[in-house]
Amino acid sequence: MSLHAEPRALRIALLGAGTVGAAVARAIAGRAGEWPLAIAGIAVRDIEKARAAGLDRIAPLTVDARGLAQSDVDVVVELMGGIDPALACVESALLAGRPVVTANKLLLATHGAHLEATARNAGASLRFESAVAAGVPVISVLAKDLAANEVSLIRGIVNGTTNYILTKMESEGWTYDRALGEAQKIGYAEADPRSDVEGEDAAAKLVVLARMAAGSWPSLAHVSFDTPPGITGVTPEAIAAAAGRNERLRLLAAWENGGDDPSRDTLSVRVTAVPADSGFGRTVGGGNQIVISGDLIGDLTLAGAGAGPGSTASGVIADLLAIARGEGSSWGDLPQAFDAPPPARPR
Ligand code: NAP
Ligand code: HSE
Repeated sequence: MSLHAEPRALRIALLGAGTVGAAVARAIAGRAGEWPLAIAGIAVRDIEKARAAGLDRIAPLTVDARGLAQSDVDVVVELMGGIDPALACVESALLAGRPVVTANKLLLATHGAHLEATARNAGASLRFESAVAAGVPVISVLAKDLAANEVSLIRGIVNGTTNYILTKMESEGWTYDRALGEAQKIGYAEADPRSDVEGEDAAAKLVVLARMAAGSWPSLAHVSFDTPPGITGVTPEAIAAAAGRNERLRLLAAWENGGDDPSRDTLSVRVTAVPADSGFGRTVGGGNQIVISGDLIGDLTLAGAGAGPGSTASGVIADLLAIARGEGSSWGDLPQAFDAPPPARPR
């Protein structure tokens, strides 16, 4: 006879069952009894579409995301994207002391300091591993494994859609429109793909990474971009010219630590020519690669599938299992982070 009682399954309010939410729901339903997780309800906008996808066989469906977030569940998983109603749902769950898992980098980049304060004051966990690089575990590495380091620089490919477009244009000769269409079909792109191709999604991830590395939440407004932004100015001719120099064009996000004064930190999202045989040059398709430079560890490189249903569900479920084990928020033992001051000099 086992001396250990099986833990009761955490009852989950799943807000959003699109690319990521449906993958999370199916993975949890497929492992019923193995993981201490159970979906109690699913919020979507279009019930018929969710029914056609078979999601009603996993849990009851509703269009009332706010109501589901405030219902008698153990944890709220926010996978709707955007700010409204995601902010209200996350806020109300945290205020009620309920843990929240989200993959919503835009929400964190715009309201991170407020949500962190709300979670800390309410004693509720807020976890967001999948908000950056999907299931590649960069958030927990910064919070825990690199805690002894002063991080001076984070540089990386953090948007799968744009990397897919650039590499399909470069290796297959696809048009920009065809590559974007395929990225949308695979489930890499945001609901509005302008945030991918114009670099806003990468900038939001950079803000979240900076918070984990430096202890304050920079504003999205302080990220500098190319003109035109993101990959919107990249032409087949520019890709071919880079190839002629044995280089590849990549959308690189970079945060540089300015020292004790966070107003001297710099953040940028820019198309950059990198050597074809470098780590960034060899990162193709929806892959992400992030290099973190710390004073003790030197350069640490994390790489893997940075977008898509499987990788993102992996990170979301890892957060849920961490909550089931009683682990706290993604920031772990790091001190509370507040909004960063505006930059000290024009960028
Ligand atoms: P998606 O495919 O557009 O799915 C969004 C889901 O939320 C849909 O089920 C949608 O319902 C539902 N929804 C939206 N607004 C709602 C509302 N007001 N009330 C109820 N339900 C609502 O998006 P996704 O790609 O799964 O992304 C979800 C989140 O994960 C976003 O924050 C995204 O940035 C983040 N993320 C995505 C990936 C990725 O690879 N896709 C990776 C990492 C993080 P309907 O379908 O009925 O409209
Ligand atoms: N749209 C995002 C990307 C999803 O392409 O990287 C992963 O965050």
